Amino acid sequence: MRVAVIGARGQLGAAIVHQFGASHSVVPFDHSALEITDAAAVDASLSRASPDVIVNCAAYNAVDAAEADPVAALEINALGVRTLARWAGGHGAALVHYSTDFVFDGTATRPYSETDTPNPRSVYAASKLIGEWFALDAPRGYVLRVESLFGRAPDGPPAKGSVASIIAALRSGAVARVFVDRTVSPTSVIDAASATRELVEGAFSPGLFHCVNTGACTWLELAEYAAELLGVVPRLDPVKVADVALPAPRPQYCALSNDKLRALGINMPTWQESLQRHLAGLDRGDARKSPRHER
Ligand SMILES: NC(=O)c1ccc[n+]([C@@H]2O[C@H](COP(=O)([O-])OP(=O)(O)OC[C@H]3O[C@@H](n4cnc5c(N)ncnc54)[C@H](OP(=O)(O)O)[C@@H]3O)[C@@H](O)[C@H]2O)c1
Repeated sequence: MRVAVIGARGQLGAAIVHQFGASHSVVPFDHSALEITDAAAVDASLSRASPDVIVNCAAYNAVDAAEADPVAALEINALGVRTLARWAGGHGAALVHYSTDFVFDGTATRPYSETDTPNPRSVYAASKLIGEWFALDAPRGYVLRVESLFGRAPDGPPAKGSVASIIAALRSGAVARVFVDRTVSPTSVIDAASATRELVEGAFSPGLFHCVNTGACTWLELAEYAAELLGVVPRLDPVKVADVALPAPRPQYCALSNDKLRALGINMPTWQESLQRHLAGLDRGDARKSPRHER
């Protein structure tokens, strides 16, 4: 298969390039090579690359900044996706796109499934939900909701985000501020990339999938487990969501169920297994070496 990866130098994009590179012909587009809000550029670049599959990892991810910059968020997370979906539909290509747990309001008391009704509470979340709709409008559109990404592909950029910040603080002895009442299903980029490949290679029916590591935790629980793995005494500043003023509200309970992927035979490792692998420096594009495939 020819696989065009957009946003190829991002945290997930680099893992996708590595994952597909072993067995497919990959055409990576970083931001400097392709601007997804430029429909003419998208058409020209994709027509040249002629992919069977487009994997879109490009996104406007500045959750708080989006509150003051809604048009930019919509241009990239919604209208840019529409451009890709239209190209994919017009050329018989599959489109894989990534969304987020933030599409939910976080008031659930059990893991969200794909059939639960979204209720976005921020500009970023709304822009991502609209992007989902456009992606799913493509005849072969796959939307994978991921959450709290961590890990690093061999050629990937330095890890960033909440998990990376907690790990960096633990390693340096700095204080890590952690939510005690925000529940997430952390997602290894290595595992998300592996699941993406399995989904595409399996030619499963398109649609919406929750692509997260199995299980859930609060940020406090994750920090304590990471500290144990690293063998350090953590310096933690536990806070409640309600006590931290952020421009964009965070959904409080956002565990996602990956049962739909599991029913297809795509088994996501637990977040503990994948965090352990990441902290041991064992992240590899070939996730067949991971605990997931040893079970
Ligand atoms: N990170 C998380 O914890 C998280 C959580 C939930 C969902 N997600 C979703 O997962 C996907 C991957 O996220 P990520 O963390 O890997 O993102 P990332 O590391 O920020 O990478 C995104 C990439 O997209 C590029 N990009 C941004 N705007 C673009 C545009 N207009 N045209 C073309 N390329 C553009 C960026 O390039 P520049 O940096 O050069 O602009 C960057 O390389 C996204 O859909 C995101 O919304 C992520």
